[in-house]
Amino acid sequence: MVDFVEIFEVGPRDGLQNEKRMIPAAEKIKLIDTLSQAGFRRIEVASFVSPKWVPQMADSGEVLAGITRAPGISYAALTPNMKGYERARDARADEVAIFGAASEGFSRANINASIDESLERFAPVAEQAKRDGVPVRGYISCVTDCPYDGATPPAKVAEVAAKLWAMGCYEISLGDTIGQGSPETITAMLEAVLNEVPAQKLAGHYHDTAGRALANIEASVALGVRVFDAAVGGLGGCPYAPGAAGNVATEAVNKRLTDLGYHTGLNAGVLDKAAQMARDMREGSDV
Ligand code: HMG
Ligand code: MG
Repeated sequence: MVDFVEIFEVGPRDGLQNEKRMIPAAEKIKLIDTLSQAGFRRIEVASFVSPKWVPQMADSGEVLAGITRAPGISYAALTPNMKGYERARDARADEVAIFGAASEGFSRANINASIDESLERFAPVAEQAKRDGVPVRGYISCVTDCPYDGATPPAKVAEVAAKLWAMGCYEISLGDTIGQGSPETITAMLEAVLNEVPAQKLAGHYHDTAGRALANIEASVALGVRVFDAAVGGLGGCPYAPGAAGNVATEAVNKRLTDLGYHTGLNAGVLDKAAQMARDMREGSDV
């Protein structure tokens, strides 16, 4: 049987949160509706963070209300705290994500909290989501390198992963936020994390700043990881990570995985159409 590898599309969130142009909700909805035809199981479409911190995501409720929900797709949203969780629940997000970091510098810059403080904030979100039957995903940023603190010790990633896992996250997504990881550092990081969380519960979330994301995916597949986050058209970055380029492009990951003999269930023609839409959205911007 051909091995299945899932691509979790994050372009409408991780991609569009970083565009300088304020993209109208109608354009986001059109992109998401196209992506909904590609065969994804999960698409991250919204982020209920402070609109003062990330104005690009302020219309997340409108976006979730405007999309045509395809059966079988989980439409996901970021929720940094209880306020974000309540907004996500009101907007009927199918699943939410809490997002921490393995480095103190990035944690402070991104969510204005130390790692320990952030975990204290996430706990009530995870508890309430459990009561509501809403799945919670956990992100860890800066799993190999941090723009503020330098190299991240693998043991620190493993420690944060264990805590998010204990909180009830159904999957932990490991973020190479600034795209500086290499197959060697990604492998060392994964080997540490695998002592705490099984491979079937991990995802790789690799930005492509240094052009190594596909190689990092291959290194992760070799260790049993079977879910990868990607953004159509290579959209994105992170507003609080200087130098972070876009996520690895969905269509490139799909091609590489298919060439390696894996099944992704995605329609390459629809992906190309969505990638063109994403590029057009970016061209409309001044970045
Ligand atoms: P803070 O300023 O410390 O929060 O920010 P606060 O609790 O003191 O609240 C300040 C104001 O924000 C208050 O309003 C709150 O009501 C409001 P005011 O009284 O001043 O009018 N507020 C909110 N409003 C709407 N929704 C909310 C919310 N929370 C507070 N949820 C906070 C702390 C976490 C809110 C802020 O730092 C924040 O929003 N950060 C988000 C940054 C972000 O979105 N970064 C990008 C996503 S992470 C990423 O891209 C990495 C990832 O892709 C993985 C990887 O690549 O590594 C996931
Ligand atoms: Mg990211």
